[in-house]
Amino acid sequence: KIVPVVLCGGSGTRLWPRSRATKPKPFLPLVGDSTLFEATLGRCGDPDAFAAPVVVTGRAHLDHVEAQLTGAGAAIIVEPSARNTAAAIALAALRLPADAIMLVCPSDHHIGNPQAFCAAALRAAHLAQDDWLVSFGIEATAPETGFGYLERGEAIGDDGFRVARFVEKPDLARAQEFLDHGGYAWNGGIFAFKVSAFLAELGRHRPAILAAAQDAVAGGISDGARFHPDAEAFARIASESVDYAVMENTDRAAMVPADMAWSDIGNWQALHVALERDESGNASRGDVELVDCRNVLVDSDGPHVSVIGLENVIVVVDGDDILVTTADGAQKVGKLHKAANQ
Ligand code: GDD
Ligand code: MG
Repeated sequence: KIVPVVLCGGSGTRLWPRSRATKPKPFLPLVGDSTLFEATLGRCGDPDAFAAPVVVTGRAHLDHVEAQLTGAGAAIIVEPSARNTAAAIALAALRLPADAIMLVCPSDHHIGNPQAFCAAALRAAHLAQDDWLVSFGIEATAPETGFGYLERGEAIGDDGFRVARFVEKPDLARAQEFLDHGGYAWNGGIFAFKVSAFLAELGRHRPAILAAAQDAVAGGISDGARFHPDAEAFARIASESVDYAVMENTDRAAMVPADMAWSDIGNWQALHVALERDESGNASRGDVELVDCRNVLVDSDGPHVSVIGLENVIVVVDGDDILVTTADGAQKVGKLHKAANQ
């Protein structure tokens, strides 16, 4: 069975004011009724295919995780400090049997087609059995600089492809080159690894991260479902993402194309696209009246909001905070003083 390893880190500034340092993106019901974290667990809920999940999170999010973690048998690894995804995944790997297949899932994505996700997960797990380090490849539709890019190499059976090159977060010119060239997919940030293969590649390319993670696990303490790695050993780990630390360097990288209506919901505009919209492209939540509007998103947690005659506008009300922006301006929300210094 596949072991879901759910990563919950990061702070939410780009979806301010709904997302806050104290309640970031994974724990909010942004699309539909369940939170992104709950939806992530739900996608891996089929007991025939998946074992109980391992959640890796920081102390700051532990209350949210425990409140939203339903179902038996889940394990929680509580990071003593934030050391990015290479370290977080290493902790989970070191707590699992060497031959386990882990499916690393970010908890802040929306996937519109969970069946396609499951099908891709099974193909990825199949490749991971053969010691491939497998990414989910998402069709690249714009020169986004916040994603990793996978250059598709030769086919590996019917399941997927080798990754000829993995380029994490290229600059705009390079991203545009990849798009023009064709044959590149975005890295969806979801990975299937066999534990032993992941640890071998981590040890090959980042021995210091592996060694410190091993010390942190060896010196850790269990407390019911929670595991607390040793803080001093963990603090020695360099903060580096798995993309830079392992995926860019390994020659065992593979990918499965995954056409699953994926969105990382990086800002309000991306959320608008992921939501159900009416025939004018409007979406609203809460007590809202829209008249002669097109492509307007209004999300209010209390006050009534009326909007007349606007296009491509986003309005968010959260408590005493109100955000009004254009669709393009949504990219800059994280840079607002109020959002960055909550
Ligand atoms: N537990 C834990 N600890 N989780 C973490 C930590 C950490 O220190 N740092 C990040 N995470 C979690 C985040 O919460 C998120 O769910 C996931 O790991 C990915 O981290 P991000 O910080 O969101 O990465 P990114 O968006 O910059 O880039 C990654 O995702 C892109 C797709 O969304 C990369 O994998 C890119 O290559 C990829 O395209
Ligand atoms: Mg992200």
